Amino acid sequence: MEIENTALTFYLTSGAAVAAALARIKTRLELSKAKHPSLAGHSKMARRVARLLPGYEYDETQFFASDDAPEDVAAQRRAGFKRLSALYAERFAKSAAMTTEVAQSISDMQFTGAYRVPFQYSRHVRENLKGGSFVQSSSGVTVTDLDGNVFYDLTGSYGVNVFGYDFYKACIAAANEKVRDLGPVLGAYHPVVAYNVKRLREISGLDEVSFHMSGTEAVMQAVRLARYHTKRSHLVRFCGAYHGWWGDVQPGVGNPVPAHETYTLKEMDPDALRVLRRRRDIACVLVNPLQALHPNGNAPGDSSLVDSSRSAHFDRAGYTAWLKELREVCTERGIALIFDEVFVGFRLAYGGAQEYFGVRADMVTYGKTLGGGLPVGVVCGRADLMKRYREDRPADICFARGTFNAHPYVMAAMHEFLERIEQGDTRWIYAGLDTLWNRRAQQLNARLAVAGLPVQVANLSSIWTVVYTKPSRYNWMLQYYLRAEGLALSWVGSGRLIFSLNYSDADFEAVAARFAAACAAMQRDGWWWAPAGLSNKAIKRRILKEMVEHRFGVSL
Ligand SMILES: Cc1ncc(COP(=O)(O)O)c(C=O)c1O
Repeated sequence: MEIENTALTFYLTSGAAVAAALARIKTRLELSKAKHPSLAGHSKMARRVARLLPGYEYDETQFFASDDAPEDVAAQRRAGFKRLSALYAERFAKSAAMTTEVAQSISDMQFTGAYRVPFQYSRHVRENLKGGSFVQSSSGVTVTDLDGNVFYDLTGSYGVNVFGYDFYKACIAAANEKVRDLGPVLGAYHPVVAYNVKRLREISGLDEVSFHMSGTEAVMQAVRLARYHTKRSHLVRFCGAYHGWWGDVQPGVGNPVPAHETYTLKEMDPDALRVLRRRRDIACVLVNPLQALHPNGNAPGDSSLVDSSRSAHFDRAGYTAWLKELREVCTERGIALIFDEVFVGFRLAYGGAQEYFGVRADMVTYGKTLGGGLPVGVVCGRADLMKRYREDRPADICFARGTFNAHPYVMAAMHEFLERIEQGDTRWIYAGLDTLWNRRAQQLNARLAVAGLPVQVANLSSIWTVVYTKPSRYNWMLQYYLRAEGLALSWVGSGRLIFSLNYSDADFEAVAARFAAACAAMQRDGWWWAPAGLSNKAIKRRILKEMVEHRFGVSL
């Protein structure tokens, strides 16, 4: 009898162990299935691959014929490049000289300078197309460099510039006046804070507010609070989404150590929902609504523009449906849904992405434009998620402080910002915003198509990206032609054009004409020549072959 009992216990325990192991394997498989098949969807592998990639450069001959262009086409490109180089040297002399003088001492400038184009071409471009990184003034929708060149601004100052630079100058000037008597007193609050909090609660529809110095910090705090209150370890972010440079939200390339408590899942995919439904360790889901323009894609920068496979398309109904599903699952599972509106807040609609997509989040992070031109990060959230201590466990706190949080000058500029966007003449800007920017994008696309240029734009309202319709290795050159036409882009080049909402039809027409002229000049100079039958796949295969050759010193 005893032997029978022991055997029974043995079988039952083993059975339970096997069942538990199978359940674990199933959960693990579900997680693997919910990852995007790209490298961006596999952070660890991406970091490993990045470490293996060899650095190499094209010599002068390869620079112009890396696609095996015949001699006459290479000569055409060389002549075009020389003309552009001469124009840059003359037109941007002062800005470029100052850049050269300080670049070696400004790490960020070195980094952005090196990553404007694919690395194989980078040095030759840096040495010959010196545009300079300095500007001296802004007005309307333009900025002026040290040489007096006036550019239409398409940088949008990383998204800060929603209403035009003059708007922010006015916010800052009025803010200075408002807090002049207090000055930089920290810790205690200037009374403007009370108004800011009231307005942010109205706009976000959430209970409480915390102030930080940057979008990165706001995201850190939102995630920390979600972990604290749910007592769960992991955050979910979606493939390709940027949430600042804090390690946990940047688990792949760019972060020297792995992020162990982050899941990177496929966006707009039922497999991701399955993981959220099943796992018990998920504290929060971070959504960057900007990804609606290119779900699961990395932020599009021209340094990765090695071929023409960049794609973008905004499907408002599809993304809305996705957010609604996400909302449902998060509610069901007690997971905090965090909208990271640092970029799109106050840009897509008065009430940001929550209003635009008609979905409410548990916490929302804001930043960039909300500071009225000064640096800021803000978290708005449900009271139960924002509390940083427990009455019944006084030592169990969720710490978050910052010397400069709620700085009087920032708070006053925010106050101005919030007051001004409430006023009629600013508020009307939001009416018909999508119709306006979609029409402008369509107009430009029609113009480019009629001119037979292999370039189109895709947009999420006033945030645009350039896509290329024929396989080519040289699309990244467009940013230099655009600059020559007086269009200012950020260091990510044609990957992101950000318009401020004060662009008039006439301003836009000027940009469209210059844009088309830049494309036409680039085409004339032969950069879009391609051998018959060239495909993006073939370009990638070729680059891979080069990399293997350089890595292992062999010739394939
Ligand atoms: C969606 C989003 N979150 C967070 C950040 C980080 O903000 P900051 O650069 O102010 O730290 C950014 C910056 O671009 C962003 O776009």
